[in-house]
Amino acid sequence: MAPNRNVELKARDADPEKTLAAALAHGAEDQGVLTQRDTYFSAREGRLKLREERRGDGPWSAFLIDYSRADDPQARTSAYHLVDVPDPGALKVALDASLGTTVVVEKFRRLLLWQDVRIHLDEVDGLGTFVELEAVAPAESDLSGEHRRVAELRQVLDIADEDVEATGYASLLLASGAATDRMVSLARVAMDRAYAPYSNFHVGVALRDETGALHSGANVENGAFPQGACAEASAIGALVAAGGHRIEEAVVMADTELIVPCGGCRQRLSEFAGKDTKIHLAGPEGVRRTVTLADLLPYAFDLEEAQS
Ligand code: THU
Repeated sequence: MAPNRNVELKARDADPEKTLAAALAHGAEDQGVLTQRDTYFSAREGRLKLREERRGDGPWSAFLIDYSRADDPQARTSAYHLVDVPDPGALKVALDASLGTTVVVEKFRRLLLWQDVRIHLDEVDGLGTFVELEAVAPAESDLSGEHRRVAELRQVLDIADEDVEATGYASLLLASGAATDRMVSLARVAMDRAYAPYSNFHVGVALRDETGALHSGANVENGAFPQGACAEASAIGALVAAGGHRIEEAVVMADTELIVPCGGCRQRLSEFAGKDTKIHLAGPEGVRRTVTLADLLPYAFDLEEAQS
């Protein structure tokens, strides 16, 4: 089945009342308020979420959405599939057990319709208020009409450049630490599975990539000592093989006073992470100290910089 396509724009909205009034004055129809709960799973490819929703006090319904999206801030397009889910509770347990949950986004959404554009006035738990424009494109569309109507509404609703948000709610919540506890659990499982019969020093690492997916790795030693791999290297291998490109957050865990990545692994992390990327140094009970990559590796070697 061909995926559906949307043209979307999301922005922070300091004054939802004003936006609502402007949309209604422009002819948008108020469809009422939805309560939505999105549970994101750690997908191997793209993004996977279970949406549960109800209109007003109506019954809950649920569907599973898999989608991929380029995070281009100025009116993104996305491709997705939708599957109705009659038993969301059971599916959530199954997907959590097999893939792991990365984050849960809860919000109230006032839905308005203007021509083929959905206007969302969203109040998101832990993030604040936003306006979203979403034009659903028919299969044969070249998207130019959708882009035009989104641009017109953008002007009417007075959405400023600086309020436009390139990332989704899940990524925004993840950036503010929503996945750290889950990463700690993942690192603990990896640490417990480490293969370290020679040093008996078990290390587990969890990484979050730019899609929100979580990856983990353990140290794997070898009787021919130099062939051993650090947990960071294993986790980075898992991230790359799963299609990840960036490290947004890392947890390194060992049962010692304060585990710090070895020198070589600081360079390995630096290949995929930024100076400000948070590295949580953890013991089995949880995070003991949080540092940035720049704290661990000032004066990092960067081949591109070195050659410029
Ligand atoms: N180790 C890691 O996996 N990561 C680090 O950052 C420090 C050291 C492993 C390598 C070896 O298997 C064991 O810990 C003892 O050095």
